[in-house]
Amino acid sequence: MRIVSGMRPTGKLHIGHYFGAIKNWINLQQGNETLFFVADWHALTTSYKNISDIRENTIQMLIDWIAMGLDPAKSIFFVQSHVKYHAELSLILGMITPKSWLELNPTYKDTKYNLLKIAHLEKEYKDTLKPLIDNISNITPHKIEDIEAFKKILAEDITDTFIKLLIEGIIDKGRLIELNISKRDFYETDTFGFFGYPVLMASDILMYNADGVPVGEDQLSHVEIAREIARRFNYLYKPFFKEPKAILTETPRLLGTDNRKMSKSYNNAIMIDETEEETSSKVLKMFTDPQKLRKNDPGRPEICNVFNYHKIFSQNEYLNIEDGCKSGKLGCVECKKILAKNLNMFLAPMREKRLSISKELIENLLQEGDRKANEIASENMKQINEILGL
Ligand code: TRP
Repeated sequence: MRIVSGMRPTGKLHIGHYFGAIKNWINLQQGNETLFFVADWHALTTSYKNISDIRENTIQMLIDWIAMGLDPAKSIFFVQSHVKYHAELSLILGMITPKSWLELNPTYKDTKYNLLKIAHLEKEYKDTLKPLIDNISNITPHKIEDIEAFKKILAEDITDTFIKLLIEGIIDKGRLIELNISKRDFYETDTFGFFGYPVLMASDILMYNADGVPVGEDQLSHVEIAREIARRFNYLYKPFFKEPKAILTETPRLLGTDNRKMSKSYNNAIMIDETEEETSSKVLKMFTDPQKLRKNDPGRPEICNVFNYHKIFSQNEYLNIEDGCKSGKLGCVECKKILAKNLNMFLAPMREKRLSISKELIENLLQEGDRKANEIASENMKQINEILGL
């Protein structure tokens, strides 16, 4: 089988990435042809305003891929934007994709809905906007020659101003949480590119006529759209595309150390590239069963995030740990120390491997991978253009 998957260039990775995606990718390397790429164009669909890190994030992410166990001798690694055929195919697939398929896509619907809520908030704050703008002008560090013109610029783009106010904390963040609006909504995803996200993703997959696409659950609807687009093309012109199957990663649900979703930006993620001390310190700050106040109090491992980690990282010991916790023999501090030790043991080989991987090595691998991907893509693109009579 040919397997294709991609990841947006988020930089250094954490154990959530390992269990959520990479581990599955590693297994699939056995007996399959595997292509893994950095979806840097997809990164632009949401954070096109903040692009300075894309290149460095790409390199750091690839270093972690290999440190975690992806094998350059078995897989082709490449960068999406280095294979221009994806853009060509995306353009063509866009022609045959009904807008309604994209409008019904859950990621898009959520964003749309949140944008509506933001618009609503804007109205709510409209009358207070002027004092807020005055306030911003006063605290602006730069000397502004024409303060009235500056205020006018601020006022003109209400959305932009509003978002800045929110981000700078002038408008209460609590309101956002109440309204369930996330930072993602400030990235101004009301764009053609974001709307077309699934079309580009379909191109990534169909470009190689992949049989299987390992993804997390959040990506299922995108793979489904890719299948529908493939069917539509085959029906309209000529059977050419395989219908790619999503290969779902069964993820053990691994929350961050503060029980929220694991994310580098929350500082609750166990990173591959951090020291043992940093890992231990994060683990020692983890929340446990709030009813277990003293060491001898019986705990409830079933609701404890630390125990959830033990199930993954303390395979030989976790039954004892469960007993110890329930009976009150094992205190939370001790329990977390065991976890920190096991986590560090699990991560040690990846950390060591990471040190041996240079940027040059990554650059070389990418050159080779980009070349191989281009070879497959160009052949398929040629056939697609022939089918279309282009
Ligand atoms: N959308 C995926 C994500 O955010 C990344 C991605 C882009 C992808 N193109 C793809 C995954 C093609 C699989 C196949 O995780």
